[in-house]
Amino acid sequence: MGLHKTVPGHRRWASVLLFGNRQPALSTHPIAESPSSWNRRKGSTRSPQPHGPHLLRRTFSPSHPPHSSLITAKSFSDNRAKTIESGLIMEHKLQSVSLRDQLTAPYPWTATPLIVGAPMRVMSGPELAVAVSCAGGFGFIGPGEKPESTAADLETAKALIASSGIPQHGTTLPAGVGFQIWNGNLDISASTVSQYRPAAVWLFAPRHGQTDVDVWTQRLRGESPETKIWLQIGTLREALDAVRSASPPDVLVVQGAEASGHGRASDGIGFVTLLPEIADATRESGIPLIAAGGVADGRGVVAALGVGAAGVAMGTRFLASQEARIKKGYQDEVVRATDGGANTVRTHLYNHLRGTFGWPEQFSPRTIVNRSWAEKQAGTAFEDIKKRHDDAVSQGDSAWGPDGWTATYAGANVGLISGVASARDIVTGTRREAVNIIQTLSGL
Ligand SMILES: Cc1cc2nc3c(=O)[nH]c(=O)nc-3n(C[C@H](O)[C@H](O)[C@H](O)COP(=O)(O)O)c2cc1C
Repeated sequence: MGLHKTVPGHRRWASVLLFGNRQPALSTHPIAESPSSWNRRKGSTRSPQPHGPHLLRRTFSPSHPPHSSLITAKSFSDNRAKTIESGLIMEHKLQSVSLRDQLTAPYPWTATPLIVGAPMRVMSGPELAVAVSCAGGFGFIGPGEKPESTAADLETAKALIASSGIPQHGTTLPAGVGFQIWNGNLDISASTVSQYRPAAVWLFAPRHGQTDVDVWTQRLRGESPETKIWLQIGTLREALDAVRSASPPDVLVVQGAEASGHGRASDGIGFVTLLPEIADATRESGIPLIAAGGVADGRGVVAALGVGAAGVAMGTRFLASQEARIKKGYQDEVVRATDGGANTVRTHLYNHLRGTFGWPEQFSPRTIVNRSWAEKQAGTAFEDIKKRHDDAVSQGDSAWGPDGWTATYAGANVGLISGVASARDIVTGTRREAVNIIQTLSGL
């Protein structure tokens, strides 16, 4: 094939990259892969992916090609003979195994490729987070309406976990919790983490960059040393500040511009570009990377692994899960919408219509557009839009949709989501699809 002809040795490299870490061992996690309709595309009647017994209980570990194994085109071309033949590939592969193991070792209930349920404010409650973890993923509870809400959510999660049979490790809960730094309450968050000891805390959105992150990291580590710190960033600068700081995170979540929730307002790019550059620049730190933004199925997982991620985080896909804490009108709109490039936008308009002000200027949220956005584009005064918005909200579910007026935060990947499914089916189906693609690619 072309690659083989133009870049001698590349084929072999790709083979190591994708399949070097296949593990024949049986997973200890009780993953029950159930038939599902999770992967039916909009307008399609395609059957669920076949899932033979060989995939049912085996932990499959495609090398998360790691930072380390990502050789830039230039260095690859300059050094390819030396690199390929000298065993550096093996070194990269070993680093990859080590980073992947480093990522998942504290979370023994997880299967690979690791699928993470991202923390989504209010939308990802304990039911969703625990369902994701029970399926071999890693579920995060999002920030609640108030700082105190997180403790109540963790109490519920604790009860759900106790009856789930999910393997635990040490004294931590097999689920995570997300905090937004700019408007979070560190005292309340620290006492909540101290009491419930989630396996990881996911930090995001500092007003003053890494300085604020360090304060949170040090305090939370002091309260619960076993709890890992995950930090979501969206630029190379933030990644470098994090790995060089006095309190580097245990995991970096690299959020691409496709993501919903809030992300970089004006200097974000897609993770296919962002993540490998960060991987190259942070390689020496040994901190594993998780890709977020735009992933909604196994294809996105394979893309993320291919550019150096150790796992992926999905948010929008889980808005269309049975366990999401979401209004029906909102969820219906996530399922209905297509063409995220045309029909989603980053804007503070909907925050302001809902009465949310004060976000640091470097962040803005992605949302599906509707009449409020159209009116703003047409020059209608904010107060007039606000009035119609508030009227619409009082009507209930019709406030969402193309003729609706209210916030529908969702990612650019809405066109990949065509139905509501259980979190278990989403996690296991996404993982299975990724494995199938990797196996198919191995024949190239
Ligand atoms: C409705 C919604 C709310 C979110 N809220 C948060 C949040 O409170 N904290 C956070 O760190 N990330 C939040 N996110 C962003 C996610 O962490 C993640 O970056 C994003 O969902 C990944 O992109 P995707 O939506 O395309 O999967 C939210 C995402 C969505 C869709």
